[in-house]
Amino acid sequence: MCGIVAIIGHEFKVTELIEGLKKLEYRGYDSAGIAALNGNQLIVTKSVGRVDALRTVIEETKVIKSGIAHTRWATHGAPNDTNAHPHTDCTGKIAVVHNGIIENYQELKTELISRGHVFKSETDTEVISHLIEENFKGDLYQAVISTLKILKGAFAIAVIHSDMPNVMIGARKGSPLVVGCNDKYCVLASDVTPIIRYTRDVIFLEDGDVVYIEGNKMRITDFSGNTIVRKHTQITWDESAAEKGGFKHFMLKEIHEVPEAIESALVGRFGQDFEPVMRELDEFNLESVKRILLVACGTSYHAGLVFKYFAEKYLDVDVLIDVASEFRYRPIRITPDTLTIAISQSGETADTLESIRAVKRAGGKVIAISNVVGSTITRESDVTLYMNAGPEIGVAASKTYVNQLILLYLLGLYMVKKRGMWANEHTEISKQLIDLPRLIKKVISNKTIESAADNYKNYHHFMYIGRGINTATALEGALKLKEISYINAVGYPAGELKHGPIALLDPKFPVFAFAPKDSLYEKMRSNIEETRARNARIVTVATEGDEELKKISHDVIYVPSVHEDIYPLIFAPVIQLFAYHIADKRGYDPDKPRNLAKSVTVE
Ligand code: F6R
Repeated sequence: MCGIVAIIGHEFKVTELIEGLKKLEYRGYDSAGIAALNGNQLIVTKSVGRVDALRTVIEETKVIKSGIAHTRWATHGAPNDTNAHPHTDCTGKIAVVHNGIIENYQELKTELISRGHVFKSETDTEVISHLIEENFKGDLYQAVISTLKILKGAFAIAVIHSDMPNVMIGARKGSPLVVGCNDKYCVLASDVTPIIRYTRDVIFLEDGDVVYIEGNKMRITDFSGNTIVRKHTQITWDESAAEKGGFKHFMLKEIHEVPEAIESALVGRFGQDFEPVMRELDEFNLESVKRILLVACGTSYHAGLVFKYFAEKYLDVDVLIDVASEFRYRPIRITPDTLTIAISQSGETADTLESIRAVKRAGGKVIAISNVVGSTITRESDVTLYMNAGPEIGVAASKTYVNQLILLYLLGLYMVKKRGMWANEHTEISKQLIDLPRLIKKVISNKTIESAADNYKNYHHFMYIGRGINTATALEGALKLKEISYINAVGYPAGELKHGPIALLDPKFPVFAFAPKDSLYEKMRSNIEETRARNARIVTVATEGDEELKKISHDVIYVPSVHEDIYPLIFAPVIQLFAYHIADKRGYDPDKPRNLAKSVTVE
């Protein structure tokens, strides 16, 4: 995720763009930049760091008539001044800001270089400015639509050209873009927050839309130039609600961002026949791996646990997993066929970092999974798979947990392919991963999650149970609840109940059970019966259409049916929303749970 804001029309001060960027910092904040048109002169100013760093190097009071601005969350190329947007062409007349990922940028860049273009940055975005340069024959709109047809991947862009200072072009495919105009200005942005100080009448552009803006007038077309009419939306939020996208808390907003985050993680990840693509791992000899060590903390550990079940089922490997705070102090055995995977959203967790160092000292190779480009863990690992979830402000992991899972599933599938074990089942899982954003939207809008939260908000204990791959879901559900609502919650593999924990159950100790229609369904059903016999209240998460579980549960939350191995993904928003609503209803701030920090850089 990155943030875009662009303004055109009457005169305005550069500070307007800065204020717009501040509102979008939640989408990225490793570097920022502005391209401003003052007459026919294009002035580009960039700075590594947050938007406030850009303030110190830009003339904020300068009056301009058009400008495009960007706040970045790095995907291709380290966070630095050169890789910061906007990106220009060889003539220095065209400037582009971009949110998304251009999948085919490597091929395009090679071709452009062979035709004499000189690249300044390592970004995928820069190919767009050079392609527009090649396609420009005096008409920026035509040059942009010719370029869009060549691009593969996801993008929202804004483009200006110093020869046409009254014109701005925007376009979207897969990344959000909103436009709003008043009697003086048109504003394009990644969301409505920078727009509402100009107008509350906005249009949410759709995939395949191009917006041509001249002065304060705009026209929407498709990529072939046909005019399109889109519906206008009136925004009713006040300014403070706007920062959180109209949601009460960042955590709730970030759960709603899960579908977009998944789409960003999946861009460029599937090739022909739905087989996964992981170019970063080209140098890794994954064919010969016999042992996998997984190391992580907290929620990231639970994501690793999901992978353990998946990898043991589909790859002929032994998978060992440990929390990093234990791993780092244990003797480790690294053989030539051992692969270590370290999972850390922040990329800074001290215990995970020390575990990586221990593996490297022992001669091992480490694949990191992280959301933060340039973080210490990404620098010290051999290679990193980036989650592309955009920044997460709520302390409790939500969208980043989902994107960790997505990458781990992709990695598992990629290893299946590399090891020559690909079967129809893997094609089916891949197809379902691609369809997941649609299904997750459905789960997020399921109102029974909040009503269940209302029923259980006053309990003091909770037991989460699951089986197989959803043992991890049970552990993660319990962690989410305890960390933000301060209810004592424990997670167990359901088969363990009878070995001790069942002694806790009574009408005051409810159970949260994950019972999808999978190969362990009957076992799980018996476990639910066991808890019912102890008079515990039961919330069951079940597959749509399952009427049986309704008879033995007090509350049922239904989710769409998916392949049995990817239920942890579909359950993730359920456990997050349940914990969120309970915390909120108990009067706590879910964004800032007591005693916790977003990044745990101390032991
Ligand atoms: C819980 C949570 C934490 C983190 C843990 C590891 O919601 O967010 O348990 O998962 O502190 O953090 P990272 O992934 O940054 O290493």
